[in-house]
Amino acid sequence: MTPALVGGILTLVLLAKLAVAGGSYTLSDVIVGEDFYDAFNFEAIPDPTNGRVNYVDGATARRLGLTVATANSFILRADDTTVLSPTGPGRNSVRIRSNNEYTTHVAVFDMNHMPEGCGTWPAVWETLEADWPDSGEIDIVEGVNNMSPNQVHLHTGPNCSIPSNINQLGKVLTTDCDAAANYNSGCGSTLSYAPNSFGPAFNAAGGGWYALERTDDYISVWFWDRNNWLTPLDVWLGSPIVDTSRWGTPAAYFPNTDCDLATHFGPNNIIVDLTFCGDWAGNAAVYSSSGCPSTCVDYVNNNPQAFKNAYFQFASIRIYE
Ligand SMILES: *[C@@H]1O[C@H](CO)[C@@H](O)[C@H](O)[C@H]1NC(C)=O
Repeated sequence: MTPALVGGILTLVLLAKLAVAGGSYTLSDVIVGEDFYDAFNFEAIPDPTNGRVNYVDGATARRLGLTVATANSFILRADDTTVLSPTGPGRNSVRIRSNNEYTTHVAVFDMNHMPEGCGTWPAVWETLEADWPDSGEIDIVEGVNNMSPNQVHLHTGPNCSIPSNINQLGKVLTTDCDAAANYNSGCGSTLSYAPNSFGPAFNAAGGGWYALERTDDYISVWFWDRNNWLTPLDVWLGSPIVDTSRWGTPAAYFPNTDCDLATHFGPNNIIVDLTFCGDWAGNAAVYSSSGCPSTCVDYVNNNPQAFKNAYFQFASIRIYE
């Protein structure tokens, strides 16, 4: 054999290995700064979770400074200057949905900051709104009223659950993913091992990375805070290829043992939103247990200055397929 032929065969063997590794993905989209305006559309819709919010359109968001793109960051925030009339619309804020839909993929969310404040309910998640819950929902970053840690959940159609004992860093809270069960609490875990995974503690750490891997066999979510020196190099560098098989035990892991993920999940959009109060943050028992003052809606109406830090700042979102 000629050296060129040997080299060719070696390359083929290497490519075949990469193809079957399952853990290797190639960068398909980098969303930084102004790219957010191309990659996402603004959803000026009534909040499906009944929040004390007024989602504005893209032109309004830019005019009011609720979204700001720079060369290396994208900020998405709520109004922090207006006292609201109790009978008028809710607090101006933003909800964006990706133009692309994703099935099998990896998404890495590099965030410097997430919204803080009593009454806030920020979320980074994936779903297909037109076919909810039958096309599934993955909540990657979600929480309310500054209460750390982060929670990761799935919501699906019937006949989907997770085992209560899984190899993951987080702690299972609920096992039935069926949105029609248990008042749509879904199945999922709390990142109790990582107090800096949400809210003010996340921000104090300088943020960090959340990563999702969705396959037909499992769904995994990882979290590394900004100073975690165990952060995989491919995540830290935003490499053109990532290998999830080297990322270690996930924060939350959803195997397909008691849920046929291939039929419970369809193409999903990425959604980033910031709402207030509503079904979860504004639930009276939840709100009062958070140590927040007054009632949720009164607090959100009357204290705009409390929402100075109610903003996401994304360094980037990278999609690998
Ligand atoms: C429920 O899901 C399992 C696989 O997880 C499948 O074998 C079974 O047929 C499903 N049952 C119904 C009623 O769809």
